Amino acid sequence: MTNMEKIERLRKNKEALKIAGGPEAIEKQHKTGKLTARERLLALFDDRSFVEIDAFVESRAVDFGMLEKRVPGDGVVTGYGTINGRLVYAAAQDFTVIGGSLGEMHAKKITKVMDLALKTGAPFISLNDSGGARIQEGLDALSGYGDIFYRNTMASGVIPQISIIMGPCAGGAVYSPAITDFIFMVDKTSYMCITGPEVIKAVTGENVTTQELGGAYVHNAVSGVAHFLCENDAECLEQVRRLLSFLPDNNMTEAPVCETGDDPNRMQYELNAIIPDEPNRAYDMYEVITSTVDNGEFFEIQKHFAPNIIVGYGRINGRTVGIIANQPKHMAGALDVNSSDKAARFVRFCDAFNIPLVTFTDVPAFLPGVGQEHSGIIRHGAKLLYAFSEATVPKINVILRKAYGGAYIAMNSKTLGADMVFAWPSAEIAVMGAEGAANIIFRKEIKAAEDPEKVRKQKIEEYTEKFSNPYVAAKRGYVDDVIEPATTRQRIASALEMLLTKREVRPMKKHGNIPL
Ligand code: HXC
Repeated sequence: MTNMEKIERLRKNKEALKIAGGPEAIEKQHKTGKLTARERLLALFDDRSFVEIDAFVESRAVDFGMLEKRVPGDGVVTGYGTINGRLVYAAAQDFTVIGGSLGEMHAKKITKVMDLALKTGAPFISLNDSGGARIQEGLDALSGYGDIFYRNTMASGVIPQISIIMGPCAGGAVYSPAITDFIFMVDKTSYMCITGPEVIKAVTGENVTTQELGGAYVHNAVSGVAHFLCENDAECLEQVRRLLSFLPDNNMTEAPVCETGDDPNRMQYELNAIIPDEPNRAYDMYEVITSTVDNGEFFEIQKHFAPNIIVGYGRINGRTVGIIANQPKHMAGALDVNSSDKAARFVRFCDAFNIPLVTFTDVPAFLPGVGQEHSGIIRHGAKLLYAFSEATVPKINVILRKAYGGAYIAMNSKTLGADMVFAWPSAEIAVMGAEGAANIIFRKEIKAAEDPEKVRKQKIEEYTEKFSNPYVAAKRGYVDDVIEPATTRQRIASALEMLLTKREVRPMKKHGNIPL
């Protein structure tokens, strides 16, 4: 064979690789509303930037008809490229090849790019669409999962890891996404579960469909396993690109600074009128957030889970900030088991990746109730206190209205290490609400009074006047300044600038023991 013939053969082989699963399997994939692995990578990466590696890798298995099933690529496409001009690695399982099932060589391809991502300090994205462990390869397949989980753990807190679920993801396979930082799921075509409906039926007698059990909506709104619910493959990949624009490449760098064109000193007069005069009336915290961040662009995470707390990314003066805000429109913004988990995990990601934290506080309490106590609100709430305390990134807190008791302390308070705490004039920073407080400390006087209701009202007013305001906290330095709401953005921008060089050293330890 001449050299030219060899080159011609290479070209043909490479062309053949692109339709690895064959036209029928590709058609089936499209019919179910899914793109193929290569189409997904094309959409995810910048135009013509994706470089495939290990395309010639094949399975070494020979049992159970694997010799006949042998396909170059072994059911996963791996490589690197750029997203928004920055280096990113990816592995996309190809369902058209043996159901995207994970065998020994399939796993080796994935771990190779994970190792490269870790060595070069670039994000790793895994696109999951797979029937799980390749049954013909048995233990070698299972060990492949172990190799991936181990690397997911080693890379945690070093490079951002994103999982995209675009088809089946069942059994132990779910634990790689579960270790990563963000899980995107595509509505209707994806699912995640430990055991499928048939096993559940046999074991517990419950009847459930795959989507009811572990579809994108369920994991976004009910279990909190996933962070993003996407309409289809294309929209999902666009959202992943957007998320990456807010993140740094690794834990040693900062997120990219953007020229947003939004004046950091822009006044927000609309915020002066946002807090209702009635203390128990709700308002929409999203309005505060979008008014404050550059150009109103807020990228929310876990939108459908624990809506009593809002978390996500925005930019202030072009720099990424992680925002955590109580939402008075849901459960009055009280902290419960799920919102504590959601916020704590977000805070830890931001801290690991040098993203400053900005908190908007309006929190009446940790949610009372037998259900919450028995679900471990003590253990879950502790995660939030722990996460804020251990975070060394710049921490800024703005108290808008209620900040009561333990929940006040938990929400990025001065005593947990917040660098700058601002309060609006409407802030009520106290051990508890005026009504509860008056009822307890003036109980005897109220009971003995001729007109108990009148005295109760008087006492509530007295307590409100004395304690339900920001000035008691400001007098003691727990609040650094009481600010006009319209100046919130300006003051946060100035504080972030002032804290740019913040360095805080923690005691040496192997690692802490966050209450999980
Ligand atoms: C080998 C597999 C496979 C697997 C699918 N295929 N899953 N081959 N091992 N795990 C093959 C099918 O045989 C078929 O091959 C092709 O992929 C396409 O699959 P279909 O069944 O035709 O597709 P569909 O109807 O869409 O159904 C998809 C599916 C189903 C729901 C995922 O294939 C399925 O139930 N697969 C088995 C799932 C499973 O039990 N996996 C093991 C889980 S245990 P042909 O040649 O016919 O085209 C596990 C443990 C991990 O993962 C532990 C980690 C620690």
